[in-house]
Amino acid sequence: MKEESGASKSVWVDGIAMPVTHPLQENVTCDVCIVGAGIAGLTTAYHLMKEGKTVVILEAKNTICGGETSRTTAHLASALDDGFPELIRLFGVDGTRLAVQSHMAAIDRIEAIIKDEKIDCEFKRLDGYMFANNQEEEAQLTRELEAAHQIGWRDVILRKSCPLGSLTELPCLHFPNQGRFHVLKYLAGLTNAMLDKDVRIYTASKAVEFRTGPVTTVVTQDGHSVTANTLVVTTNVPVNDVVTMHTKQAPYRTYVIGARVAKGEVPDALYWDMQDPYHYIRLEESGGEGTDDLLIVGGEDHKTGQDDYPTLRYQKLEHWMRQHFPMAGEVVYRWSGQVLEPVDSLAFIGRNPGDADNVYIATGDSGHGMTHGTIAGMLLTDLIMGRKNEWATIYDPARVSLKTTGEFLKENLNVAAQYKDYVTGGEVKDASEVIPGTGRIMGRGPNKIAVYCDQDGVRHECSAICTHLGCVVSWNSAEHSWDCPCHGSRFDPFGKVISGPATKDLEKPGGR
Ligand SMILES: Cc1cc2nc3c(=O)[nH]c(=O)nc-3n(C[C@H](O)[C@H](O)[C@H](O)COP(=O)(O)OP(=O)(O)OC[C@H]3O[C@@H](n4cnc5c(N)ncnc54)[C@H](O)[C@@H]3O)c2cc1C
Ligand code: FES
Repeated sequence: MKEESGASKSVWVDGIAMPVTHPLQENVTCDVCIVGAGIAGLTTAYHLMKEGKTVVILEAKNTICGGETSRTTAHLASALDDGFPELIRLFGVDGTRLAVQSHMAAIDRIEAIIKDEKIDCEFKRLDGYMFANNQEEEAQLTRELEAAHQIGWRDVILRKSCPLGSLTELPCLHFPNQGRFHVLKYLAGLTNAMLDKDVRIYTASKAVEFRTGPVTTVVTQDGHSVTANTLVVTTNVPVNDVVTMHTKQAPYRTYVIGARVAKGEVPDALYWDMQDPYHYIRLEESGGEGTDDLLIVGGEDHKTGQDDYPTLRYQKLEHWMRQHFPMAGEVVYRWSGQVLEPVDSLAFIGRNPGDADNVYIATGDSGHGMTHGTIAGMLLTDLIMGRKNEWATIYDPARVSLKTTGEFLKENLNVAAQYKDYVTGGEVKDASEVIPGTGRIMGRGPNKIAVYCDQDGVRHECSAICTHLGCVVSWNSAEHSWDCPCHGSRFDPFGKVISGPATKDLEKPGGR
């Protein structure tokens, strides 16, 4: 995936030249330290730089944008996933209007930055279509339309038929002014603009300690520190919080396939259906005449660490695609990633609850991480600059609502149920039962061992107990990782942390 480019000014991430950065090798100070260089962290850094703040970004991976941002399908949508009637129930008409306006403003801001920084990243405004597949969904479309009009979004309209007949014979809702872009090209441009203005970005610099107070100090795994007036943690899932935020959101895996489709066969738009989990679809136009477009189809979400056969998800997705897009050709790409579903639909962007006043987080961005990440950049900058922002209340990470009790209990009871794995026997009795290229949980006395057998038949063992809050991890055969079914921490086959909330690797058996 990554290799040094000939010019040594860039490094290839998924075929895109990303700017080269280096690890932190000294102690530094700045106005704002940002931890995590995905869309949320980079966008926040960019806005703070524009305000004249000195900014340091720490990124654990060897390159920027190696987290979920590199897995996205990059729909830019202000038509929110959980639907307007549900949002109105949770946030009222005014709150829902603000939420939609914030996503519209995020798309506008992306477009403005692209213009200002002259970034070539395939940005395009598009129509979005939510389509019904049965009578019940058709009735729900009408309720969505009424709710959209209630918040004042009057150019959402109900169409008798979908632009693509094979999707459905039933009506669809038409949302104007959505969009798409190539997020890695966009963030490469944004990062180059920041490097030109001396924003310091350190990769391979994992933050392992957060000391907060009137001044914050973040220490990296190599023992170097960043001392700042303000700390912003944009690690997708906050790694500076052990419990609070992880009870308010749940991690889900989501799957994507990319299939060739003859140019012009599928009208260029965003599409999504009304199933739970829903399918999301867009097109990537080919560069030239006579070459195919790429049809990108996502869905089949499930709670992280809670599917024994995740590779079947690709099969199901392809089956669904062939029913709805009979013109689709060969599947040429398959990938999966993780999204964090907040219990009440909107991201958590603002002050970290229970922490010093100068510590901020952005998390819970659901399937709207492109816009939520951009909203984070705008909103956090206003909060840090001491400006009022009308979105602050709806995105406040400290918010609680009795209206979300049901969803809150459902997700947290699901987490509690995962601890049963402690008392079950494990999937295999002996490491020899684990076949090459796979991992299995083995019971050894009272302990649970995660056994991975590599392609050469060598077996590697580590404790199966997640270092976050102690759930038993589960093998993910689609990504070759150990995934925690509780709050979504992920570890590589040898137990090294891929993503949090866990910050420590799985222990070697016997705690070595
Ligand atoms: C398959 C898929 C499809 C999606 N489709 C869409 C879509 O169409 N539209 C949309 O809006 N959203 C979509 N999303 C969601 C969106 O991609 C994400 O929500 C968004 O990219 C998250 O950005 P982020 O900056 O919060 O996190 P990330 O991109 O994950 O960045 C966080 C960074 O923090 C770093 N980090 C973690 N811990 C540490 C540490 N201790 N020290 C230093 N650095 C650390 C990580 O290495 C990572 O680089 C999709 C997601 C997936 C998985
Ligand atoms: S992620 Fe919380 S226990 Fe594993």
